[in-house]
Amino acid sequence: MKFGHFDDERREYVIEQPETPWPWINYLGNEDFFSLISNTAGGYAFYKDAKFRRLTRYRYNNVPMDNGGRYFYINDGGTVWSPGWKPVKTPLDHYECRHGLSYTTIKGAKNGLEAEVLYFVPLKSWCEVQKVKLTNTGSSSKSFKLFSFMEWCLWNAEDDQNNLQRNLSTGEVEICGSTIYHKTEYKDRRDHYAFYHANTPVQGYDTDRESFIGLYNEFSGPQAVLEGRPRNSHAHGWSPVASHYFELELAPGESKELIFLLGYVENKEEEKWESKGVINKKKALREIARFDTPEKVERAMSELRAHWDRLLGVFSVRSGDEKLDRMVNIWNQYQCMVTFNMSRSASFFEVGIGRGMGFRDSNQDLIGFVHQIPERARERIIDIASTQFEDGGAYHQYQPLTKRGNDAIGGNFNDDPLWLILSTVDYIKETGDFSLLDELVPFDNDESTAKPHFEHLKASFNHVINNLGPHGLPLIGRADWNDCLNLNCFSKDPNESFQTTENKSGSTAESLMIAGLFVVYGREYAQLCRQIGQKEEAARAERHVEKMVDAVKQHGWDGDWYLRAYDFFGNKVGSRENEEGQIFIESQGWCAMAGIGQEEGMVEKALDSVKERLDTPYGIVLNNPAFTRYVIEYGEISTYPPGYKENAGIFCHNNPWIMIGETLLGRGERAWEYYQKICPAYLEDISELHKTEPYVYAQMVAGKDAFKPGEAKNSWLTGTASWNFYAISRYILGIQPQYEGLLIDPCIPAAWKGFEVVRKFRGAVYDIKVRNPKGVSKGVASVRINGKEHAGNLLPLLPSGTHQIEVTMG
Ligand code: BGC
Ligand code: NOJ
Repeated sequence: MKFGHFDDERREYVIEQPETPWPWINYLGNEDFFSLISNTAGGYAFYKDAKFRRLTRYRYNNVPMDNGGRYFYINDGGTVWSPGWKPVKTPLDHYECRHGLSYTTIKGAKNGLEAEVLYFVPLKSWCEVQKVKLTNTGSSSKSFKLFSFMEWCLWNAEDDQNNLQRNLSTGEVEICGSTIYHKTEYKDRRDHYAFYHANTPVQGYDTDRESFIGLYNEFSGPQAVLEGRPRNSHAHGWSPVASHYFELELAPGESKELIFLLGYVENKEEEKWESKGVINKKKALREIARFDTPEKVERAMSELRAHWDRLLGVFSVRSGDEKLDRMVNIWNQYQCMVTFNMSRSASFFEVGIGRGMGFRDSNQDLIGFVHQIPERARERIIDIASTQFEDGGAYHQYQPLTKRGNDAIGGNFNDDPLWLILSTVDYIKETGDFSLLDELVPFDNDESTAKPHFEHLKASFNHVINNLGPHGLPLIGRADWNDCLNLNCFSKDPNESFQTTENKSGSTAESLMIAGLFVVYGREYAQLCRQIGQKEEAARAERHVEKMVDAVKQHGWDGDWYLRAYDFFGNKVGSRENEEGQIFIESQGWCAMAGIGQEEGMVEKALDSVKERLDTPYGIVLNNPAFTRYVIEYGEISTYPPGYKENAGIFCHNNPWIMIGETLLGRGERAWEYYQKICPAYLEDISELHKTEPYVYAQMVAGKDAFKPGEAKNSWLTGTASWNFYAISRYILGIQPQYEGLLIDPCIPAAWKGFEVVRKFRGAVYDIKVRNPKGVSKGVASVRINGKEHAGNLLPLLPSGTHQIEVTMG
């Protein structure tokens, strides 16, 4: 069953009924100021950091679901309703939510009155614009009342929900015309305030929650709205809110537009005050003036659209399959940008207070957006590398506001360092900008330790070879990519976090996944060294890589697939010898991508075992058989009920590793089959089962052992976005940036007749037409560049302008 449809022309997903199987959300904002918005206008806004600078309050996992947002209430002759259906939930005559690229419009209509709200964060601004358009669609004139509403968060989102003995006394506001200023703690240590402005004079307002809603009322029925009478309340402590009140009249057919602005301002210490106790409003007024008419708002929207045209113009496909085209051209790339902005911090599953920017996550996310915004990818790489330790290890996370490593989480996830090689190499192949390697980058944010970025890559590489275990395989540390394979944790205490506990010494448990990863990125490192003339370093790296290949062949093969690990006691993990967890996806993916034992048929065998043991109608599960009991020497993985999360869930992030492995074997059908199985646009018809948004990937889909196989959770913030874009664009469609040019090496189902890709690369436009007359899956027979025969399938760097590239497979 579907709850809406794709409007590809406008690059929107159109939700036709408010009761979706789960709130279906969107993100506003691209740089500093961000908002989350659901299809019923739930969600919240923050400046840079969802924990430390949250502007509006939101209650996660509440009853009812998705509680709190930027709400509008209409009281039309006693009938009270909201354009987004929630919170009032009065049945509407018409409802529609359109989630677009960094904007959302929600339209509701009731009794001849239509209200359409456009929400977006303009480029280069620190505010959310809400443009409300009210239209009288009836035949007689209408008088009604409109209330805006949102609740302030007292800045630190964690403290806001916990430290009530203090917080209920600190709230402060200032009211000035149609603007409500939130200035809690501004008089002491904060140099920032927020404001909620309306461009039309108000007939009343409220800033105290209890006065507006009533102590025993709910968001669905604030007493001020029900009575059609604001209280003009002034908050002193308790819970400050912001609500504007308007009495409006519309003739038949008449429309009115009101513009609301939710903004954030920072002032220098000496410029904080206008007079004693009165905040300096200059910057707020300047921001307000930028968006105070519908024309200015429309201009800002056009700029936003142009911004997305630019970003999405770098890579686009025409395949003849509209689902594939809309994922590759719009939604998958969009999700990659959102993961770039958010990492794993704020979604409807991530509460914005727990996790900052992940070291491994942010490096991997980069491969999904580097082509769109290479300059920001460069900055991001430097931010990440600046949190690395001198021995190559890394803080697992850092806070976006301070850009410092997060002590509370610590480090010792031994896959972390290698992902820095991935992101760096990918950036250089995209841009040709080797100067990044010379950039001075500190370790652990200590400038006195700064060394050229290249030294960070060397430290990453060395971190693996300096931490090998008894079989010459990489030690796993606290965990590798699989955060829940905690081989040194040994936790008996339910109050202990699997993510931060390491009760054993960590000098025996080894990871085959890191081994494969090391072979892939060790080779990349060596190739990079050759590119910059460091031949000896390259040779040294290659020697270590070859040793690792041997170690895997000797100690990492179980007969039909690669082992997953050796545990603390030196026992095999992911082996036929085990009762549960006999085979795992990660080591199959990485050892296959590394081609370890390909000549001996190991890769093919391993991937066939994946097909046989892990594949399901909804994607590939992480392991099999699922764990049914707690295995203390494995940790968190065995705590999940079978079929969920890392315990045999379909962890979508790692499915593309298998797709890529399949393309390296030339098995286009299989790669494509795996791609489609987890790709959201192909799941739209089973939305009631899939549950999360049909336009973005979810981290996990319940596996075959789960109660409800096929049910997704944790949409939006997942490495799934970038890895799927990587798999489809580089390995299935086969367009791969290299140091010297653009490699074209598709691997597609034999039945495909071809496809077209427009790729902007290093200043030129490659207009690529791939034909497949012989019905092969892989192999390029000939290439023509602007009509001229070209030897091989590596396109050279071409001068600016558009070039016609004809590729014939065969
Ligand atoms: C989850 C992992 C996640 C980890 C870190 C675990 O509970 O299962 O998917 O990466 O927490 O927060
Ligand atoms: C989610 C985490 O963000 C990611 O870093 C990790 O690799 C996966 N879970 C698998 O555990």
